[in-house]
Amino acid sequence: MADKLYKSAKILAPMVRCGTLPLRLLALRYGANTVYSEEIVDKKLIQCERIENKILGTIDFVSGEVGNRELVFRTLRQEEHGKLVFQIGTATPELAVQAAKVVAADVDSIDVNMGCPKHFSVHSGMGVALTRDSDRACSIIRALRASLDIPVSCKIRLLETVDETVSLVQALEAAGAQAIGVHARTASMRPKDKPRWNQLRQIVESVSVPIIVNGDVWGPLEIKELKELSGCSSFMSARGALKNIKVCFENDIEKAKAEQEDNQSIIRIIHDYVRISIDFDNHGKNTKYVIQYMLKMNNQLGSTFGQALSSGKTRTMFDIAKVCGLTGYYDHALAEREKLLSSSSSSSSSGGGGGSSSSSSSKMEDILGTGRVYDDDFFYARPKKRQKMGTAPNVKLPPDFKNILMQWGDLQTNLTRKQQCPQYQHIDVGAASDHFDDVAKKSQAKCFKAAVYVAGKKFIGEWAKSKSQATSKAAHAAIVELGIDNESLKGPVTKGY
Ligand code: FNR
Repeated sequence: MADKLYKSAKILAPMVRCGTLPLRLLALRYGANTVYSEEIVDKKLIQCERIENKILGTIDFVSGEVGNRELVFRTLRQEEHGKLVFQIGTATPELAVQAAKVVAADVDSIDVNMGCPKHFSVHSGMGVALTRDSDRACSIIRALRASLDIPVSCKIRLLETVDETVSLVQALEAAGAQAIGVHARTASMRPKDKPRWNQLRQIVESVSVPIIVNGDVWGPLEIKELKELSGCSSFMSARGALKNIKVCFENDIEKAKAEQEDNQSIIRIIHDYVRISIDFDNHGKNTKYVIQYMLKMNNQLGSTFGQALSSGKTRTMFDIAKVCGLTGYYDHALAEREKLLSSSSSSSSSGGGGGSSSSSSSKMEDILGTGRVYDDDFFYARPKKRQKMGTAPNVKLPPDFKNILMQWGDLQTNLTRKQQCPQYQHIDVGAASDHFDDVAKKSQAKCFKAAVYVAGKKFIGEWAKSKSQATSKAAHAAIVELGIDNESLKGPVTKGY
């Protein structure tokens, strides 16, 4: 099974909030060999109950009590069998095994996320924190191999030097990892930074298990280049699949080019995605998020369609179907579901037809809850408005220095937790006048200053117009003084991956 999943494969990468059932099915239908689920954290998975959803033909994992259920993971075995890798977020062998056992009978492999650089992950010892502690990473792989009958893989980012990465992949292979996804960026590199493809050959040649190359694989053109450069035969795409999933998993370079040049391509893909979302009762919020991501990757969020889709009024699957002109499809799918429900349920149905108030939707919710609950800042890829920084010439949208410093701290395993975590102290003009001689000269427009304590040192920023700008300037001072990765400071940073 490991060979089938991971060898010479084109793979849909794990993507939190995007890699739910509809995107995975879309990827498989457009030519992906293997699909990864979004990362689910072990503690969440352990709480889940397995339900066979006879209406949809899916296996669902739900948490919470009846009446207040949350859909955590849904798989369609009929189509995903032999192709589905389930990714867990974990920090300990015990929880990893406990969580993996919940889904092991319904997926084809378990992958451990060792590449997530987000604060919540690293802070709790998951994601890239594991690659900084290879003993713990290996103990998780060993425990999973010893307890499961299905393959086990992991996904990492590059370490600072290629030798370090080589040692890590060799250790993971020795611990039992049957494939290793390598995102060819380091933890501090941003998605827009050029991945270090030139390091891959050494990594690929250092182990005998498949290395799955990831990072800026947009379609067959990059695959051809990467094959020559790295000698690798397995590839994984995340944003490529969101930008144009058809181009991404196309084999033929000429066909991919033609598809790329067709400006209706993404709209057709979105319609296909919406149909699958309707078929499998995907949550409107999740569907909307993924479509927004697709549009964003194609610079089409501002188009008439993008605006209608992004409107606050577009919430449910029915609203999305309406924006896409697919209400007929929606009504038909619901009517079919209604028939199945009434034949499987003794209670009488209270009306048919389409619309967001359909009885089959509410009955489905009675059975399964309202779908996965996400936080309010759902479309987190939308760039935050950033203020101009007076002192940074030619930089209109400054990087998120506070975030960069926090992520850097997370990676400093030689520091105590307190030293890793930047702590800010603010002063305004009034409070500062006793301490700084030049305060009297400051205009009212620039009356905030901040200091940050990190790595056992104190760094003071420039005067600023607001408290948040002062925070950013203090973080910037620390970044400069500590010589933190200048590469990542070149442009705006979006949260997350
Ligand atoms: C990701 N990535 C990611 N990685 C992972 O191991 N588990 C996850 O759940 C996620 N979630 C996620 C969400 C979204 C929206 C994106 C864009 C990315 C990282 C992803 O799998 C991949 O490693 C990087 O995006 C680099 O590949 P691309 O985008 O250059 O193809």
